[in-house]
Amino acid sequence: MTPDLLEQGARRVEERLAALETGKSNTESGGRAAGFSRVAQGAGEVDVTHGRILYLEDVSVSFDGFKAINKLSLDIAPGELRCIIGPNGAGKTTMMDIITGKTRPDEGTVFFGSTIDLLRYKEAEIAQLGIGRKFQKPTVFEQLTVFENLELALKMDKGVKASMLHRLDSAQADRLAENLHTIHLAGSASRLAGNLSHGQKQWLEIGMLLMQEPKLLLLDEPVAGMTDEETARTAELFLTLKGKHSLMVVEHDMSFIRTISEIVTVLCDGSVLAQGTLDQVQADERVIEVYLGR
Ligand SMILES: Nc1ncnc2c1ncn2[C@@H]1O[C@H](COP(=O)(O)OP(=O)(O)O)[C@@H](O)[C@H]1O
Ligand SMILES: [Mg+2]
Repeated sequence: MTPDLLEQGARRVEERLAALETGKSNTESGGRAAGFSRVAQGAGEVDVTHGRILYLEDVSVSFDGFKAINKLSLDIAPGELRCIIGPNGAGKTTMMDIITGKTRPDEGTVFFGSTIDLLRYKEAEIAQLGIGRKFQKPTVFEQLTVFENLELALKMDKGVKASMLHRLDSAQADRLAENLHTIHLAGSASRLAGNLSHGQKQWLEIGMLLMQEPKLLLLDEPVAGMTDEETARTAELFLTLKGKHSLMVVEHDMSFIRTISEIVTVLCDGSVLAQGTLDQVQADERVIEVYLGR
């Protein structure tokens, strides 16, 4: 990133502060609080010496007597890209709500690495520990440019104004430039996020998460509504993220899952129904039953 571009970025950011402060730059989803906590900064080390970055055991939660999550046990290895599939209502989103502290389980164990008991942390703290979450709908700042969105994601925890006035140091500028390439938006840095396609907005939001250098990324139906070409590029993107980050991806698009998956976990009625390669789970009678038998 050249100093000129950085200067331009900073100036444009200052110009838009007024608009932001009057609340006109709400995200598409109405600027919900989760959008802020999700991109908080500063993660320490996570102890993965036991070979797991995420560990759930016997987790249950009920809503009005209905068990949305029922004795769910699951773990993910560092650097793994885990795909989660399952019929509507299986509990996939609720599982992510539990991992990110949005929903408290009634019972069970949820660990990040082998030492961090996630149930002891609040939603914003969990984001700071290094767990990034992408909701279904893109939640970018439409009135800011691609560049500014990424810049803002760096320092969200300092508050909007402080973060907008903050100048990037060279390591941050390098990371921003690298992320622009990773998310296929290097040629669109100065475009307004509101003018991007749906797929590009999704990539931008992933880029915003990446600015925080999360250890674990949770992505809920990331290719829903994308064109075939956008879906293919998203698969490429996820494959480049794998290894550097651990990913949990919930998706219904089976050709997408086929392109990116190693281990696929099938959730049903709030617990794990089957797990294995996509071919293995698709051949499993119980899986066929829940997808076709009702
Ligand atoms: N906050 C909530 N209050 C009541 N019921 C909920 C709540 N969140 C989820 N549920 C219910 O829990 C079940 C699992 O939902 P969800 O996790 O969204 O499934 P999925 O993402 O797999 O489609 C559904 O029956 C849903 O209606
Ligand atoms: Mg869901």
